[in-house]
Amino acid sequence: STLGSPLSAPAYTWDTLAEAVAHCSACKLSATRTQGVLGVGDRNADWLIIGEAPGVEEDAQGEPFVGQAGKLLDAMLVSIGLKRGNNVYLTNVLKSHPPGNRNPEPDEVAACRPYLLAQIELIQPKLILALGRVAAQSLLDTDEAVGHLRGRVHAFQGVPLVVTYHPAYLLRKPTEKARAWEDLCLARRTMQNL
Ligand code: URA
Repeated sequence: STLGSPLSAPAYTWDTLAEAVAHCSACKLSATRTQGVLGVGDRNADWLIIGEAPGVEEDAQGEPFVGQAGKLLDAMLVSIGLKRGNNVYLTNVLKSHPPGNRNPEPDEVAACRPYLLAQIELIQPKLILALGRVAAQSLLDTDEAVGHLRGRVHAFQGVPLVVTYHPAYLLRKPTEKARAWEDLCLARRTMQNL
């Protein structure tokens, strides 16, 4: 792990992590973002859900998934008996909003990676749900499309990881909701069998 050997102290506590994200200038997004968006929810959650990056509303409110995609995400969670903040922690690959909602660039993903790794180390989730291409490809270190990565159980540092479509994509392509539902059921089943 890039966090160091198992014998080393954790790189961050929640307090130092929040402080680091709030004051981060590790990439160019710090020049245009309103605020860093660390994540929200249960810090002891079994479920860690990882999106792409804060949008305009998330940048303004300082919380992930508060816009339209977030509403669909909430419905997706409810469909498998979950709700925001209850055994669920939500975050993004990027903690800063990319201007115009453009795709994250590789240097930005790399600069933010220590924060995501620290969150995984602190939360120690039982399962990771990766939403969309950026989360899936960066965590699994692959160029494979979401359509190929979804529908099976991967692992990230020994933690089961399920990939599904990003809710913002599902808003544009609602016919894919059936496949997302399959992925959510797979994730729920995987959690139940742990
Ligand atoms: N899309 C994301 O990937 N994350 C958010 O927080 C909001 C929209």
